[in-house]
Amino acid sequence: MQIRDNLKIIFPTKFMQKQEISFVLFGGTGDLTKRKLVPAFARLIHEGRIRDDSTIIGISRKKMSDQEYKKFLIGSVKEDKDKEYIRKLDIRFFSGDFTKSGLSGLKQLIEKSEKPGCNRIYYLSTSFRFFPDIVKELKSQNLHKKDKVFTRMVFEKPFGDDLSSSEELDKEIHKVFSEEDVFRLDHYLAKETVMNLNVLKSTNTALYKTFSNKYIESIEIIIDEDLGVENRIEYYNDTGAIKDMFQSHLLQMLSLLLMELPHTLTADNIHDEKLKILKNLEILPASNHILGQYESYEKEAKASSLKLSKIETFAKIELNCKIPKWDGVKLILRTGKKLKNKIGKIKINFKTNSNNVIIDIYKKQEPNTPNEYATLLSEIIKGDKTLFTRSDEVAESWKIVEKIEKIRDKIKFIKYKDNSDPEE
Ligand code: BG6
Repeated sequence: MQIRDNLKIIFPTKFMQKQEISFVLFGGTGDLTKRKLVPAFARLIHEGRIRDDSTIIGISRKKMSDQEYKKFLIGSVKEDKDKEYIRKLDIRFFSGDFTKSGLSGLKQLIEKSEKPGCNRIYYLSTSFRFFPDIVKELKSQNLHKKDKVFTRMVFEKPFGDDLSSSEELDKEIHKVFSEEDVFRLDHYLAKETVMNLNVLKSTNTALYKTFSNKYIESIEIIIDEDLGVENRIEYYNDTGAIKDMFQSHLLQMLSLLLMELPHTLTADNIHDEKLKILKNLEILPASNHILGQYESYEKEAKASSLKLSKIETFAKIELNCKIPKWDGVKLILRTGKKLKNKIGKIKINFKTNSNNVIIDIYKKQEPNTPNEYATLLSEIIKGDKTLFTRSDEVAESWKIVEKIEKIRDKIKFIKYKDNSDPEE
């Protein structure tokens, strides 16, 4: 039973029915739509998971005709076959900001373009600051629920920028949508190796038995990137590595790795076990951590006329988990931009004979392998919440970030050369 349930996670939607969906993309001309969502749509059509005449409605402040938007989406995929899939879709564009007046008329467009009996997914890849206004407006235009079919909401990370803002978001969203229809996205949870962490534990029992402070000295989770902040400096200058990567991807991976395997792997059982880990994490004293900024960051910020901030583009944070099984194992989470190499790995260091187990997160992508977003969209269509974060996990992660913020001034802050390793 257990292994079967696990396998459901590896091959999530293989045999699901072709669905009639309309996707409403807030932030529809952004980078994420271009790089991740459009290839994911092509993939879902290729695998017969959604109909090839599904509707996509893009929303942003830009001025574009439906035709121009279609061209933009087609240009987002490389292969001819994928271009053909996107060309067949029913593609519309709505120009407006995310306020009441900006969104007036959205209902008419959605109702005109949607086929009867069609499910609807709202995908918000905007700043979290727009989430409450968008949700309120969907309700006021009576676009928040449909008879007999589903209406689901997807929120890109970061979900807020501290504990109180994330709680406020939950409050506003829950006035309109029930938690069941809310999908908080963390794309690392859909990376193949991350999805398979629980499979590894349940199938490799010899390894799983060594998962404790009796055998393990330390665990490192590393997401090093060789690129800088690129065209996202405006977002990044207010955010930094702790809020951009640590609060979400790194803490999610750590909790998945340390959690106990529940008897049955339902979404809620998994969230409950991850939550136990998150609640028991403590941040070690300031002298254990390092924050840093790559040298050319200052120039990039100036070029974009941004206020120079002491924002971290690198963070190495050490933690302890108070649960008796893990107490004393050094937990090291590291991430950064413009580092020497692009590396994504989990390293488990054992006490004896300097043995270690390394799990690679970035696997070489074969052409045509589904990106994480195709997996995530399939799961949203299925209504399975396993690969998404529950509101109490998000809140707990913000509490951990707040503990770091309290000691931030005491943490060593270094400038590192572009494409170097700050710890070398
Ligand atoms: C995003 C962060 O969530 O993850 C980016 O906002 C980061 O700053 C990205 O570059 C890394 O994702 P991946 O899948 O390319 O490793």
